[in-house]
Amino acid sequence: MKGVHFLMSLVLLALATSFASASDPDPVQDFCVAVDDPKSALFVNGKFCKDPKHANADDFFFSGLNKPGDTSSQLGSNVTTVNVNQIPGLNTLGISIVRIDYAPYGLNPPHTHPRATEILVVAEGTLEVGFVSSNQDNNRLFTKILNEGDVFVFPVGLIHFQINRGHKNTVAFAALSSQNPGVITIAKAVFGSDPRINPDVLTKAFQVDKNVIDYLQKQFWVDNNN
Ligand SMILES: *[C@@H]1O[C@H](CO)[C@@H](O)[C@H](O)[C@H]1NC(C)=O
Repeated sequence: MKGVHFLMSLVLLALATSFASASDPDPVQDFCVAVDDPKSALFVNGKFCKDPKHANADDFFFSGLNKPGDTSSQLGSNVTTVNVNQIPGLNTLGISIVRIDYAPYGLNPPHTHPRATEILVVAEGTLEVGFVSSNQDNNRLFTKILNEGDVFVFPVGLIHFQINRGHKNTVAFAALSSQNPGVITIAKAVFGSDPRINPDVLTKAFQVDKNVIDYLQKQFWVDNNN
């Protein structure tokens, strides 16, 4: 019995230590500038909370992921997002879902989710997917061809992409480990920022002629979701 008590207190001690060393909760929006006057505050951890007594099933419901997104843009892909902005009940729960449609040769261009790991399943068609590890890991490319029912994981923050190399449409669904994962589309963020980044920065960074950077900065950059 004494031994059990000793074990219990060890477990409690371990728990207490882990609580004491817990870090801040991860942000669920890009930034949250502190204000002194609560009247001018807009968001607390992304959203305000509803009185739980007034919550109902519709707060946890979304209908429409059976509908394909329009893939007629130059990228040939479309991401339909279902996050805390579509399902308010997702607030603070750390999860969301998307449907991604790809026309033949459609591309979901290299992008990252600053706040989420993504797990993707192919529902229809085929998909070439990949992510690149960080500098510390020598920027290794991890790539696969996925068929129906295949699942692939894109770890949080890493640059990743998907392309449909098949002759018919591809449909995938992906769950993300944030109520608001965020998206940074690399080419658009680097060459299509508002205002544009000084070309000297990009000329040196990409080791190309200034005309190349001028050309890229003049393009009209699109993304397929936000
Ligand atoms: C994605 O598809 C939806 C539904 O068809 C459409 O309203 C939206 O404009 C499309 N987005 C892009 C970026 O093509």
